[in-house]
Formats: sequence, structure tokens, C-alpha cells
Amino acid sequence: MSVVKINVLTVPAAMREELERRFAGRAGMVESADGFEWFELLRPVDGTERYLVYTRWRSEEDFEAWQRSQEFARGHARAAADAEGASGHGHGHGHGQGPAASGSELWTFEVVESATPKA
Ligand code: HEM
Repeated sequence: MSVVKINVLTVPAAMREELERRFAGRAGMVESADGFEWFELLRPVDGTERYLVYTRWRSEEDFEAWQRSQEFARGHARAAADAEGASGHGHGHGHGQGPAASGSELWTFEVVESATPKA
């Protein structure tokens, strides 16, 4: 049974463009992860500040293996560097405005039913 992992990013209005630019230039490595099934970046249009990073995996184990992997680290290297820069430690190589997201939260679901359009 597939599992859905949604990373919920709180993004202030002023940082939306920056966040979307980062995802447009993302590492693109998740596609090669074992057990990876789906990814979507979802932009809020209802007045909230929460973007959803929707991912679906063959199993919990596959998701956890990706989180521990080099690919996850590389896919988040810029986000990490920016966070470091914002907190005043290290040598952040970001754009100097800190991380695009001001908070994040991970949601986990099991897929119970799903459908795709009839051919
Ligand atoms: C501290 C928490 C996290 C923050 C602030 C964050 C933020 C970001 C940002 C800004 C990017 C764009 C790439 C970049 O800037 O280098 C990114 C990529 C991505 N994030 Fe996260 N992320 C976090 C954790 C997670 C988690 C737990 C998941 C699992 C659902 C996830 C899923 C993804 C995926 C699939 C990509 C694209 C990576 C690729 O192309 O290989 N993120 N994230």
C-alpha cells in the first residue's frame, strides 16, 4: 500500500516567488529514488500561506531511505545553506533573505482508494 508524505511549508507572500524559483531549479533527484511514485508542488490559492509538497511512495521504508540518502541532502542543500545564513551561523550561500519557508510540518497518509481517468 502506498504512503503519501506531505511536507507543509509556511511561505510568507513576499517569499512565494523565491520558493517557486527554488523548486523550478530543484535537484530533480527524487525521481530516481527507489519506491518514489509521485511529486507535486501545490500552491495555495485560498488565501493561506501553506504550500504542500506532495510525495507518494511505495512504502514507509522507501520514504525513510530517501530521507537518509545523499539525494535528499543534495535536494535540500540550498534550503539548508539559506537557513544557516539566516541564523547567522556558518557561511550561508543563499540570497541573503533566509529560507523561503518560515516553517514546515510533515503529514503522513496511507492511500486507501485511488482512481485515474478511464482510457
Ligand atoms: C525542514 C524541512 C524542509 C524544508 C524547509 C524544505 C524545503 C525545500 C525547498 C526550498 C526545496 C527546493 C530545492 C532547494 O531549495 O534546494 C525542497 C525540495 C524538495 N523537498 Fe523539501 N523541505 C523540507 C523537508 C522535506 C520533506 C520532509 C519532504 C518529504 C515530503 C520534502 C520533499 C521535497 C522534494 C520531493 C523536493 C524536490 C527534491 C528533488 O528535486 O530531488 N522536503 N524542499
